[in-house]
Amino acid sequence: MKILVTGGAGFIGSHLSVALVKAGHDVRVLDNLFSGKRHNLGDVRGDVEIVKGDCADPRAARKAVQGIEVVYHEAAVPSVARSVDQPSLSHRANATATLEMLNAARDAGVRRFIYAGSSSVYGERKESPKRESMEPKPLSPYAVGKLMGEHYLRIFHELYGLETLTLRYFNVFGPRQDPGSPYSGVISLFTTALLEGRTPVIYGDGGQTRDFTFVANVVAGNLKALKARGLAGQSVNLATGRSVSLKQVLAAIAKQTGGVAKATRKPARKGDIRHSLADIGLARKLLGYRPLVDFETGLRRTVDWYRQAYGA
Ligand SMILES: NC(=O)c1ccc[n+]([C@@H]2O[C@H](COP(=O)([O-])OP(=O)(O)OC[C@H]3O[C@@H](n4cnc5c(N)ncnc54)[C@H](O)[C@@H]3O)[C@@H](O)[C@H]2O)c1
Repeated sequence: MKILVTGGAGFIGSHLSVALVKAGHDVRVLDNLFSGKRHNLGDVRGDVEIVKGDCADPRAARKAVQGIEVVYHEAAVPSVARSVDQPSLSHRANATATLEMLNAARDAGVRRFIYAGSSSVYGERKESPKRESMEPKPLSPYAVGKLMGEHYLRIFHELYGLETLTLRYFNVFGPRQDPGSPYSGVISLFTTALLEGRTPVIYGDGGQTRDFTFVANVVAGNLKALKARGLAGQSVNLATGRSVSLKQVLAAIAKQTGGVAKATRKPARKGDIRHSLADIGLARKLLGYRPLVDFETGLRRTVDWYRQAYGA
């Protein structure tokens, strides 16, 4: 199949692009290299058409979807904290970019559009685990933007018949996640800090929990979505169904790196939620998805990768 992966030079998009090429698909990547890097595409770089462009620019979006059957829309500026600091930047990269990609896909006759959604749309709630039937209550500009994208996907199915699906990712981690900014994913930050002998920062008391999902599981869910039947604008959790606290994560990384499980405490960040755990029943039912790699195995592979890439 001829597939477009937006954000394909980023963390998740690059893993997905590599898997699609290995499965024999013809892959084009659209990425403005805001945080992505061409070298993330590693060994498959020669087999992927990489187009530098912005998804929020209608001309770039239209050019990128020419001849494409399926779009995986992974491009975003995926940080709650950054969106609190820069709401307009977040809106453009998340909401506007998604709408422009959908417009372009509709006009070019793309058949299927699969979107990287986010668990952040649930916001803070007492009920756990999070089920898709719950009303979303986004707490940050990032979560609002991701939720707008979901609504657009739903109505693009209803209005124009595009086969659409949102996969709500829950705290993804793994090799190639960029630890280069304070907005980066917590596992990338903790691991590189301990490998480099620095003390990592924990915002809040470290008791907050997340359904940390190894990136191979997210790729597996996306590959299932390529062939699944009955895609009609649904939103589906993609996670593991198990949660771990930040303190536990830090202890596990310290054990693997030989570092000390100590962190500098800073006040909890605005827009962050306390607990996040997914019900993955719908993904199982609709896509036949099940997580392939457990947290401990994923963490080991991740720490090994950072040790090679960043360690002494
Ligand atoms: N990492 C997670 O834990 C997580 C959790 C939930 C959802 N998500 C979603 O998964 C997707 C991928 O996230 P990631 O962690 O790989 O992030 P990432 O920052 O590594 O990748 C995003 C990619 O999108 C590109 N990009 C940003 N804005 C763009 C634009 N306007 N046009 C073209 N390219 C653009 C960046 O350069 C980058 O390559 C995002 O949509 C994000 O919202 C991620």
